[in-house]
Amino acid sequence: MKLEVVILAAGQGTRMRSALPKVLHTLGGRPLLAHALAAAEALTPSAIHVVYGHGAEAVRAAFARTRVRWVHQAEQHGTGHAVRLAMAGVDPASLVLVLYGDVPLITPATLRTLAAATGLDGVALLTAELDEPGNYGRILRDGAGRVTRIVERKDASPAEAAVKEINTGFLAAPAAKLNGWLVKLSRANAQGEYYLTDIIGMAVAEGVVVATHRPAHPWEILGINSREELAHLERIHQKQNASQLMQQGVTLRDPARFDLRGKLKCGRDVVIDVNVVIEGEVELGDNVVIGPNNVLRDARIGAGTIIHPNCVIEKAAVGCDCRVGPFARLRPGAEIGDGAHIGNFVEVKKSVVGPGSKVNHLAYIGDTTIGKHVNVGAGTITCNYDGANKHRTVIEDNAFIGSNTALVAPVTVGAGATIGAGSVIAKDAPAGELTLTRAEQRSIKGWKRPVKKK
Ligand code: UD1
Ligand code: CA
Repeated sequence: MKLEVVILAAGQGTRMRSALPKVLHTLGGRPLLAHALAAAEALTPSAIHVVYGHGAEAVRAAFARTRVRWVHQAEQHGTGHAVRLAMAGVDPASLVLVLYGDVPLITPATLRTLAAATGLDGVALLTAELDEPGNYGRILRDGAGRVTRIVERKDASPAEAAVKEINTGFLAAPAAKLNGWLVKLSRANAQGEYYLTDIIGMAVAEGVVVATHRPAHPWEILGINSREELAHLERIHQKQNASQLMQQGVTLRDPARFDLRGKLKCGRDVVIDVNVVIEGEVELGDNVVIGPNNVLRDARIGAGTIIHPNCVIEKAAVGCDCRVGPFARLRPGAEIGDGAHIGNFVEVKKSVVGPGSKVNHLAYIGDTTIGKHVNVGAGTITCNYDGANKHRTVIEDNAFIGSNTALVAPVTVGAGATIGAGSVIAKDAPAGELTLTRAEQRSIKGWKRPVKKK
């Protein structure tokens, strides 16, 4: 049976009080709509149709590379209207599954069982039992327990409103039948909208069986209408991320203080301390320890490396058995070799720090290639920018750069060279020799400090 998915995402999301269309707000670092799309894609349907409207340009731009059929709903006349617009491009021989763009935690497993709950001759609804059914549509059943129709909260009598079984909005229905029902919808209701939910009464009147199915987890059906709900779902999502990692053998010092906004691949016995934020694609080797308050974005950290607290590491690769931080910043293009140490208040950009080299205190290393076993003293700055262009610094193996040195690029420090503290090195320093630009120290005999005038 051919399956096609319709995702409703045209609504404004007034209660977000945002200039950003609701479905572009992020959960786990990805737009809400991306979550619904991923759940849909997992079912490998023959087509996905996204009904969009509010913030149309921004939504299209955010998903420019996603292969879906876009259905523009210029004015939002209700869920029935939205699905009807999408149906123009749906194969009448298919089964249609309706999702919402603002319900991001739905699982493919639940969607699969919902789609399997009906064939091309029936309808399946995803329903839930809520102690406080709020504004959800109510599922009405007859004496024999068969679904008879759905009534929206605003149209419900007090007795109907008391029903605790609610419509989650997810449903599966055969396209041909759906087409027939959608054209018969009317706006004669409390909200003056075309309710998709009215097709249920029509189906029942035609003798079509309406099956119901429950989600595997209660949080799957939660939608986002406000910032509070967004934050609530973010925590649920992060808890799942944390559980998965712990099941894979990662130690999380506190799963409630861990945020994954991308993909994390971990080796064996990785330890992640509190308040760590992982973004983009991050890979941690065996026995890596990530200290508290670290931000890692698109980074690779080799086995046995310790990232001490309060570092920001972005688009950088750190080798095995390194020590980084506390308070280090590795910027794009930083490549730290095995066994190297990057200490506090050290910034590294577009540079290679060779194996076993140490840059331990207060330094800026930019556009630089550092060889093996180099020691870079405190306060060393590579002056890579002349105000117009960037230039490279090369520091060869076993060199020793004295504290507070300025290396004015382009410049090379030869292998085994020593640079005296406080030097400004603007010409190449030969291998194996001591180079320094420091003025000689002198003392003035008998010099007296000035005294304050009376
Ligand atoms: C709808 C259901 C209700 C269900 C609830 C679950 C109807 C009539 N009611 O109510 O039974 O309990 O969802 O959350 O279907 N949308 C469009 N175009 C429109 C209108 C809505 O794309 O013209 C999209 C929205 O962006 C949203 C989804 O459809 O993603 C649901 O719309 P919403 O207004 O939240 O539906 P409710 O009235 O809450
Ligand atoms: Ca809603």
